[in-house]
Amino acid sequence: MVDDKTAEEFAVYMKKFNDLYEYLASLVQRHSSSSHPFILDLGAGPGLLSVEIFRKIPQATIIGIDPLIKMLKLANGNVKNADFQTFEPVVGVSENIPLKNNTVDMIVSRFSLPYWTQPKKSFQEMMRVLKPGGKVVFEALNRDFPTWKLSLIKIRMLFNRAGRDVTRYHVDAYKLAHTVNQVEQFFTDAGFTISEKEGKKSEWRFIIVAEKK
Ligand SMILES: C[S@@+](CC[C@H](N)C(=O)[O-])C[C@H]1O[C@@H](n2cnc3c(N)ncnc32)[C@H](O)[C@@H]1O
Repeated sequence: MVDDKTAEEFAVYMKKFNDLYEYLASLVQRHSSSSHPFILDLGAGPGLLSVEIFRKIPQATIIGIDPLIKMLKLANGNVKNADFQTFEPVVGVSENIPLKNNTVDMIVSRFSLPYWTQPKKSFQEMMRVLKPGGKVVFEALNRDFPTWKLSLIKIRMLFNRAGRDVTRYHVDAYKLAHTVNQVEQFFTDAGFTISEKEGKKSEWRFIIVAEKK
């Protein structure tokens, strides 16, 4: 868990990488079967992904779940500043998603997995709340990313004025991250069918799209 100051600095720094959120949002749009989907942003952080999803799918309703109240306050502010109203911030965790069975059209989650204390249970929870035919668009840090390249990221972040705490927050997450194979296994063990994969073994992140058939 990060403190409030690091959460705020993280939100400011990540705004420089809008293209990454925009790209993920375009995948969400492509995989959405509705023009007014009910979407869960799991580990929503400062809500930057939710904002980009609203830009692509303005009629969406998004529930942003995160255990950190500070992150949810930032998310609510960012979404409302962008003039989207149908966002609901909810305190919660992936291990016990506060939603009823078969209620969500899509789940998005970006770089939250390293912090999930019970990944297996969390994937079962995603399966439980998703409607049949619903999809998960999941982006994860790659555990197989070479350590020497991680040092380069650290230097670049410090050079780009991410600050020491945000740099540590990002770099330390790789120590808790998972490989593509592990994440595929979490999905298949929970009963999902994988429909798309992006990212090479040497890249710093990967994306998996999975479906509840
Ligand atoms: C690196 S941030 C990513 C935030 C956002 N998804 C983004 O890409 O900008 C990871 C987020 O996961 C949240 N988180 C930590 N443990 C969690 C859990 N068990 N369930 C859901 N979210 C969690 C953290 O509070 C944090 O906001």
